[in-house]
Amino acid sequence: MKFRIYRYDPEKDAKPYLQDYDVALDPHDRMLLDALIRVKAVDDTLSFRRSCREGVCGSDAMNINGRNGLACVTNLNDIKEPVELRPLPGLPVIRDLIVDMSQFFKQYHSIKPYLVNDSPAPEKERLQSPEDREELDGLYECILCACCSTACPSFWWNPDKFVGPAGLLAAYRFIADSRDQAIAARLDDLEDPYRLFRCHTIMNCVDVCPKGLNPTMAIGRIKDIMVKRAV
Ligand code: SF4
Ligand code: SF4
Ligand code: FES
Repeated sequence: MKFRIYRYDPEKDAKPYLQDYDVALDPHDRMLLDALIRVKAVDDTLSFRRSCREGVCGSDAMNINGRNGLACVTNLNDIKEPVELRPLPGLPVIRDLIVDMSQFFKQYHSIKPYLVNDSPAPEKERLQSPEDREELDGLYECILCACCSTACPSFWWNPDKFVGPAGLLAAYRFIADSRDQAIAARLDDLEDPYRLFRCHTIMNCVDVCPKGLNPTMAIGRIKDIMVKRAV
């Protein structure tokens, strides 16, 4: 199978370049990550992240033929050759397909991605009705792969100011949680020309999410709640 892969080692290379590979696959290789491991076997200088190989850890997100996705859940039958692989767009490259995720996680942590509830803890756990629990479906499954935020033009232009789709999905996950007591503070924090309102509903985020989540819908719900509390 033919590959064209972005290479850049800042300690050795003056600038990035694309390197061609032609590797023999095993009949059992089904996913792009299997093929990348074959490439690594012929050139161990190639660097990429991976861990679970099941679409759970989010570490092997990359740009595959122009579209962000996870190598481990991308079927080799579904991609055209030569397969062009680049690092996730818009983040600094550490080496080859490995990007520096600091800015992405900084935005994620900025929305306080944990339950805030200062009432005395019950003996066992804070319960929810099945209906309230259902409200969190489609919000809690995010694996923080960054495919969405790095496909979002608003995040490319303002990564230090716009929370981005992954962070905003997480923000709504807690706003929608019947056990959370910090909803007003969460909304105040997002009521800002950049943090939330830089989303222009381009929907690249929805298009690339490997878990089928819908950050645009979550962003729309936050905006609705803000409008309603203003009237
Ligand atoms: S819908 Fe909003 S968050 Fe999603 S890609 Fe577009 S601008 Fe970014
Ligand atoms: S919303 Fe989807 S694309 Fe974005 S970080 Fe979470 S799992 Fe990845
Ligand atoms: S290796 Fe964990 S999501 Fe792909």
